[in-house]
Amino acid sequence: MDRSGDGILMDMPLSVSRETWALQQRPALRDWNSDILYGNLKMEPMLMFTDPPYGTGKRYTRGGNTYKDGIDTAPTIEAINSWLPIMDPNGTVVVCCDYRLAPDLATQLDWCYRGEIIWEFHLGNPGRKNWWPAKHNNLVMFTRTPTSGIFHIEAVPRTKRLSGPMTRKVVKTRGKEYSYDYPKQYKVYDYPADKPSGSVWDYTYSSSDGRRVGYPTEKPVEIITPFVMAHTNPGDLVVDPFMGSGTTGVAAIQVDRKFYGSDISADAVRVATERLEAVSAETRKQ
Ligand SMILES: C[S@@+](CC[C@H](N)C(=O)[O-])C[C@H]1O[C@@H](n2cnc3c(N)ncnc32)[C@H](O)[C@@H]1O
Repeated sequence: MDRSGDGILMDMPLSVSRETWALQQRPALRDWNSDILYGNLKMEPMLMFTDPPYGTGKRYTRGGNTYKDGIDTAPTIEAINSWLPIMDPNGTVVVCCDYRLAPDLATQLDWCYRGEIIWEFHLGNPGRKNWWPAKHNNLVMFTRTPTSGIFHIEAVPRTKRLSGPMTRKVVKTRGKEYSYDYPKQYKVYDYPADKPSGSVWDYTYSSSDGRRVGYPTEKPVEIITPFVMAHTNPGDLVVDPFMGSGTTGVAAIQVDRKFYGSDISADAVRVATERLEAVSAETRKQ
């Protein structure tokens, strides 16, 4: 274990070069130092895929692990900005977040805002009765210039979309009658093979899904892999400064990329380390 600055760097005991990564635990975002990170990383990250605190003010607990999300989005944006000088000039940043963080990121991140993928999920009830349901996350994308960033279109998944005959539904509210069209019968079909998926991805990841490692707000690998494939080449470095259980690392290692992750929580570092060691060993066998 090597101590650098106020952070703790753990070099993973792996001999295979494509699996060299480090997991770093840092006490506070404001203490992050790009020069220290650069010295440790030894190569420029081609992709940052990260899923930081969204500014919900809630405490998340799962499988004995817990973390508290603040309500201020500024430290998160500051932390991501601190990474930008060491990113590959042709790199991409993708931030998974919701309606709280997305607008602040789009206007305050130092790189160019390149749009969003909407990840829609159908889990549980809407959770609130006084406003519209929030059943999606925003995957917000940035590059150094409006045209930079590598993009392998052939790696983008062909998603399915819904279509079908429309039918008219009539509802009565406060004595008034309203009618609107909705699809009566859904038919699922693939986009043509030469066209990429749309910008709305429909993917439900149940809280009882057996693939989960039990970390609060854990994300599915399947949402991250398309970004790794589209925005990096084999052997490139992928980073996640808020790695949680290391899901970004799983997506990266499975397709032959290097990974560097960090998290303020010792629980997260422990869970991610165990998980990435297992995935790495599994990948080596194949
Ligand atoms: C939404 S979770 C990430 C979950 C992850 N994507 C996964 O699949 O497991 C956000 C993570 O940010 C971490 N975090 C919160 N504040 C942090 C800080 N100041 N510095 C580093 N990590 C922080 C939390 O500990 C938590 O693990």
